[in-house]
Amino acid sequence: QIMDKMNFKHYMLKEIYDQPQTAKNWLENYLIKNLDNGQYQIKYPFDTEFFESIERIEIIACGTSKHAAMVGSFLLEQFSGIPTNVFYASEFRYSPPPLLPNTLTIGVTQSGETADTIAAIDMEIKRRSSIEDKKFKPNLIAITNRKESSIGRQVSNIIDICAGIEVGVAATKTFFAQLLSFYGLAIKFAQIKGNQSPDEIGKLINELIKLPPLLEDLLHKHNKSSEKLAHDFFNIKDVIFLGRGINYPIALEGALKLKEISYIHAAGYPAGEMKHGPIALLDKKVPVISIASPGEVFDKVISNAQEAKARDSYLIGIAPECNGTEIFDYLMKVPSSNELISPLLNILPLQLLSYHIAAHRGLDVDQPRNLAKSVTVE
Ligand code: G6P
Repeated sequence: QIMDKMNFKHYMLKEIYDQPQTAKNWLENYLIKNLDNGQYQIKYPFDTEFFESIERIEIIACGTSKHAAMVGSFLLEQFSGIPTNVFYASEFRYSPPPLLPNTLTIGVTQSGETADTIAAIDMEIKRRSSIEDKKFKPNLIAITNRKESSIGRQVSNIIDICAGIEVGVAATKTFFAQLLSFYGLAIKFAQIKGNQSPDEIGKLINELIKLPPLLEDLLHKHNKSSEKLAHDFFNIKDVIFLGRGINYPIALEGALKLKEISYIHAAGYPAGEMKHGPIALLDKKVPVISIASPGEVFDKVISNAQEAKARDSYLIGIAPECNGTEIFDYLMKVPSSNELISPLLNILPLQLLSYHIAAHRGLDVDQPRNLAKSVTVE
């Protein structure tokens, strides 16, 4: 299917700009208002009874999907109260954890065809099906953009992320839609397990509902400024991305985007780990991009940024304008939000910055060398 690039220079930029619509689609498809009590429910196409016996979750994915899974794991543990682990599919295949009862296995794959993910899920189905005790039976959900794919045939409980076709090899809007799918799951589990009050759940849902105009605004504000920033940085050799808590996987994803399309070395770190290695790399030639969302770990991230500043690194902040953020040499402003929602906002400026750096270097942004949209071999 030939997709229209509209007036965008590359598909990737168009797909970054599709994200407000991705959010609207997700809200329309999966958020249902209960007319009796005015409360919202998440409507996934499988029975909620399915969730009741679940005591733990294991998530299997590769690449960008693994980063969405890590945000999902944070939400499922911290918001819904369910112990959750995330695995690289390629590792899980050859060293799966010992089988535990009442476990939900979630496969996350945009294409639905990634060989390692398919093989890992297949192995999990087989090893669980071979045990008679019902507590060990396979309970599966797949989060994918292609329900008619290999994973769609393996798994009957599908969350279709409904992101539309993504042409750019570097995943953007599918990552965003995978994240939303995990917010939905976390809300569903919190409701069923009673881990959050209806009030808290209502607050999170309201933040999701408010997203589309905030995303439009972010794109509007940052497209030009990230182009300017790219102009200054297109020749750098190394970049460190820092985040903590729910934004640690966003630091990983920011670094992955930059590597994939610009061929600049980038490493994402949990900010508190900087002193255990990456700090040795820092000097004025190595910029540090810190994700500093107000909340639980804000002060810690700012003090980690201070340590980088003391080593002469140029500091870029992804944060709202607030006390503490004056430390950044350049602030990519995002609206202030509930910390739990912040990954959905923070990822956009990072995608734009990577895009503009790669475009400025004159690279084939949509088809980076050595990478494929869907990796169907091991
Ligand atoms: C490839 C793509 C990545 C993607 C990864 C996993 O490496 O280039 O963008 O994140 O595969 O793909 P999946 O389809 O399983 O999400």
